[in-house]
Amino acid sequence: MFAVENLRFTYPKNKEETIKGISFEIAKGEIFGFLGPSGAGKSTTQKILIKLLDKYSGAIMYDGSNIAELDDSFFEKIGVSFEMPIHFSKMTAMENINFFLKLYQKNADVETLMKRVGLWEDRDKMVGEYSKGMKIRLNFVRAMLNDPEMLFLDEPTNGLDPTNAMILKDMIREFKKSGGTVFLTSHIMTDVDQLCDRVAFVVDGQIIEIDSPRNLKLKYGKRTMKLEYKENGKTILEEYPMDDIGKNEQFLERLKAKDIETLHSGETTLEDIFIQVTGVGLTHEA
Ligand SMILES: Nc1ncnc2c1ncn2[C@@H]1O[C@H](COP(=O)(O)OP(=O)(O)OP(=O)(O)O)[C@@H](O)[C@H]1O
Ligand SMILES: [Mg+2]
Repeated sequence: MFAVENLRFTYPKNKEETIKGISFEIAKGEIFGFLGPSGAGKSTTQKILIKLLDKYSGAIMYDGSNIAELDDSFFEKIGVSFEMPIHFSKMTAMENINFFLKLYQKNADVETLMKRVGLWEDRDKMVGEYSKGMKIRLNFVRAMLNDPEMLFLDEPTNGLDPTNAMILKDMIREFKKSGGTVFLTSHIMTDVDQLCDRVAFVVDGQIIEIDSPRNLKLKYGKRTMKLEYKENGKTILEEYPMDDIGKNEQFLERLKAKDIETLHSGETTLEDIFIQVTGVGLTHEA
């Protein structure tokens, strides 16, 4: 559905390349996550993919056509949400929506969308009086206005409360179910884990890892079993290698004889993988 080959880009004012030769493909119906530290080039890449930035090198193919050669009909087929939602703040939500609807030939059912994200009641409110989360939800509705085939979402759930984030994630999954394709960036690793079929890790303008969340967890996770049991009022933690665990006498003896509290495989989280892969140590103040 979407293919990027050896993409390179330098901002006119800069000397150094921001995007340093990235390649990936997104299949139809796939949700593809684009992850990486702040400044890695995620938003820049999204802007190139939606023809907002040009003068790049490499090829970007949409459904078999090079986007550089596509006319404005490309914008009929894609839906976009930017990381900083920009709306007309002196207009109501509906006035904003109607303004953007007119730009498209195909229109989605606005009432259904606005009800789904919980903004229908507030549709005649001035957007300047919207809360941050309301603006973000309106931003998502705007991405869906033309009933697109493919969505480009830059941190779509950032700043939403868990319930609203779940509603948006459900909508993204339904979009996928109906055949839609998604390019998504996010810093919220649980969202990425729940949504994405595959993810790419970008560091300093280059992709350094690309796979499904499951395969990444297998690759970066520890093949161990952690066991906690209670003895004389104290909790004791032990770790056993996963290989031949069924033949590990001590492990089996613990299962039989002890009061087990928890039992976990050493599966890692995408958050841990992010830190491991991107090599970005988080600095926490004690
Ligand atoms: N308009 C611009 N002109 C020059 N440099 C820019 C411009 N926009 C972004 N950059 C630079 O390009 C690099 C990548 O920025 P980008 O916004 O793509 O990062 P990002 O991966 O989306 O980060 P974040 O996670 O913080 O959103 C940064 O070094 C940034 O300073
Ligand atoms: Mg960004």
